[in-house]
This record gives sequence, C-alpha cells and structure tokens, in this order.
Amino acid sequence: MVPFAVIGIGRMGGTHARNLVNGKMKKAKLVAVCDIDKEKVDAFCKKHPDVKGFYSHKDLLAWGQAKAVMIAVPHYFHGDIAKDCLTAGIHTVVEKPLTVTTKEGKEVIETAARHPDAYFGMMFNQRTNRMYRKAKKLIESGAIGEIQRANYVITDWYRSQAYYNQGGWRASWAGEGGGTLINQCVHQLDLIQWLLGMPEKITSCCKTVGRNISTENDLYAVFGYKNFDCYFCASTHELPGENRFTVVGTKGTVVIGSHTMRYTLLEKSEPQVNAETTKGYGNTKRHKHFCTYGPVRLLNDLIFGQQRRVIDAFAKAVDKQDRNLVVAEGSEGIKALTLINGIYLSNWKKETVTLPFDDDEYAKLLSEHVQAESQNK
Ligand SMILES: NC(=O)c1ccc[n+]([C@@H]2O[C@H](COP(=O)([O-])OP(=O)(O)OC[C@H]3O[C@@H](n4cnc5c(N)ncnc54)[C@H](O)[C@@H]3O)[C@@H](O)[C@H]2O)c1
Repeated sequence: MVPFAVIGIGRMGGTHARNLVNGKMKKAKLVAVCDIDKEKVDAFCKKHPDVKGFYSHKDLLAWGQAKAVMIAVPHYFHGDIAKDCLTAGIHTVVEKPLTVTTKEGKEVIETAARHPDAYFGMMFNQRTNRMYRKAKKLIESGAIGEIQRANYVITDWYRSQAYYNQGGWRASWAGEGGGTLINQCVHQLDLIQWLLGMPEKITSCCKTVGRNISTENDLYAVFGYKNFDCYFCASTHELPGENRFTVVGTKGTVVIGSHTMRYTLLEKSEPQVNAETTKGYGNTKRHKHFCTYGPVRLLNDLIFGQQRRVIDAFAKAVDKQDRNLVVAEGSEGIKALTLINGIYLSNWKKETVTLPFDDDEYAKLLSEHVQAESQNK
C-alpha cells in the first residue's frame, strides 16, 4: 500500500481523504492530511487518530513518511505546492487545473523533469469514463476516418447565485484565475485535446449571464485544427442544460452524451459515396452501435467519485513502478491549460490566437484583470 497524504481537505480533498481512509483504494492508504485550516485538520485527525495532521505542506514534507500526495487546494496554490512536493521526491497528483497560467504550469513540468523518480499525475478523472476511452480508440484506429468536424456542448454544470455567494475563491480572477472555463470546463477541454489533439488557433467569446460575478459563466470557442474545426460551447446558468460531444469523421460519427454513447460507422466513406454518385445526393449503409457508461460503474462513481480510480491507478503505478498505469501524466495538464489561457486571451484581445501564444503576455493580462476586479469591489 502506498502511503498517501492529501493536501487541502475541503470539498474535493475531503472526499479524497475519506475515500483513502475508508479503504476505498486497493493500493493506497491515508497516512496524513494537511490544510491551513487547523479546525479541519484537527476534526479529521480526531475522527481518524492513525492519520497524522499538518497545517503546512512544508511540515508534511519534512515529516517524510508520505510517499505520495494528492494536492486539492485552490488553483493559485497548485504550482508552488506541486514544485515543493516534486523537489522533495514525492509522487504527486495535482487536482485540475495544473496551475492558473501556462507560465507557471511549464515551471511545474520543468521541476518534474528534474525529479524523474517522482511520478507526476493530473486529476483528469473524466479520462476513466469508458465512453471517452472507446471514442479515443475509434478515432485513433481510423474507424471513423478523417475528422471533419467536432462540437462539444456542455451546459449542465448548473451553478446558482447562492453557489457564488458562498464566497471564497470561486469565480474570481484573484481567487481562481477565471470562472466556468478554468473551474468546470477544464475537464472537457482535456477530453477535447485527448481525443483530437491540440488545435492551431483559438477564437472565443466569454460573457457573464444572470449572475453577479466578475468572471464568465457562458462562452464559446472555435478551435481551428489543420483540417477541421471544433466548436466548444459551455455555460453554468442553463437548466436543464446538456452534455454532448460529437465527432464527425469521413467514415463515421461518434456522439457522447451524459451516460450513453452512440456511434455510427458507414459502409462506404463519404468521399467514396461522393465519387460514385451521379445524382445530387447519396447514401450508404450504416451500422449503429451503443456503449453505455454502465450502471454499476455509474453508481460507484456517484458514491465515491471517478477521482478514486485516478488515485488508485496512480498508487498502482507507484507500487508496480509502471508509469503507463498513470491515468493522466502531469505534463498533460499544460494542454487543457493552454486551451483555457488561449480562450481568455482571444476574448480579451478580441482576435484569433495562434498557438503557442506568449505566456508572459497572458500572465500580464491576467494580473490586470485581478487588479481591475479588486478596484471594482
Ligand atoms: N476533479 C474534480 O472533479 C474536482 C471537483 C471539485 C474541485 N476540484 C478541484 O479541487 C481543488 C479544491 O477544490 P475544493 O472545491 O475542494 O475547494 P475548497 O475551498 O472546498 O477546499 C480547498 C481547501 O484547501 C485548503 N487550503 C488552501 N490553501 C492551502 C494551502 N496553501 N495548503 C494547504 N491547504 C490549503 C483550504 O483551507 C480548503 O480546506 C481545486 O483545484 C478544484 O478545481 C476538482
């Protein structure tokens, strides 16, 4: 069993810690928790006397008995804590997003590269979803042919004004470095790049609808690839909202919803139909297939969270010394972060952004937003 510590035991980190301490992981056990909120640490350790409590991650690292850590603190602290853990040679999983800016994200990745013995993972728990895994196989095997278009509509992460009124770090430039995009959409952006690769260009528009917050809760982006575009549309104010990822290829189409995936494979590719038909229209036989999330898996994930799989796989990787078992390598975190920063940059500059953009320019514009936000308070 890999001795794990959780740094930040709020909503998400608290769930990670409870899953670990309640024996929900096959290969990981909780040995310590750490939070700057002393009451949280004391309450947790009172309930679980075998778990050691720390109020600073530096003291946890000095203790030296945790071999792996899960970092679940607000976004602006991800970078420094991850760098300290990796430098101490501790296997490190970072909650999404990797950091707030690509500039800092690259520093974390460079730190990890200097300490290759420490495994480094990202909490991209959606990658454990069997429907996205199936879609990845269909795309990479060429089963759906050349990609012609993709669109992802994700509008079912509803957040009310009461959610934002809880205060804290959410939906502010100073607190989390953005809104819906950096908090909720990071999962979908990772899936887009995981399945389709990275685009060359980003054009976007972000706005705030029906909420008193300084960041966006509604946005669209067009990701320009060499041979196709991907349209991304997200919001957190619609009811009931939808979750639909469509990838159209020359030989088939994949449509993934919340719990069901439908994919259609054509007997003849569209270019072949087009070449053969002398009429103004054409068609071919098609084969429809379904893949579901699976009721047992769904129930398990609803109770314990998909995140449990990511931590357990990471522990297994450490235990077996096999990096391939890590669900998402830490260095992968820079890709979704590049899409996030690129969307904000395009929106701020009101122009199409070509990748790679200037990391320093992004960091500077973000700090201007932080400043403007504090003046408007
Ligand atoms: N993977 C997912 O599906 C998922 C879901 C929710 C949140 N998250 C991520 O988890 C992270 C935490 O989110 P949350 O909702 O649990 O936030 P939260 O505010 O509920 O908890 C954060 C905790 O971190 C503690 N903290 C702050 N600074 C610290 C520091 N320097 N050292 C130690 N502890 C510190 C706070 O006291 C708090 O207890 C964020 O990165 C968030 O994006 C991921």
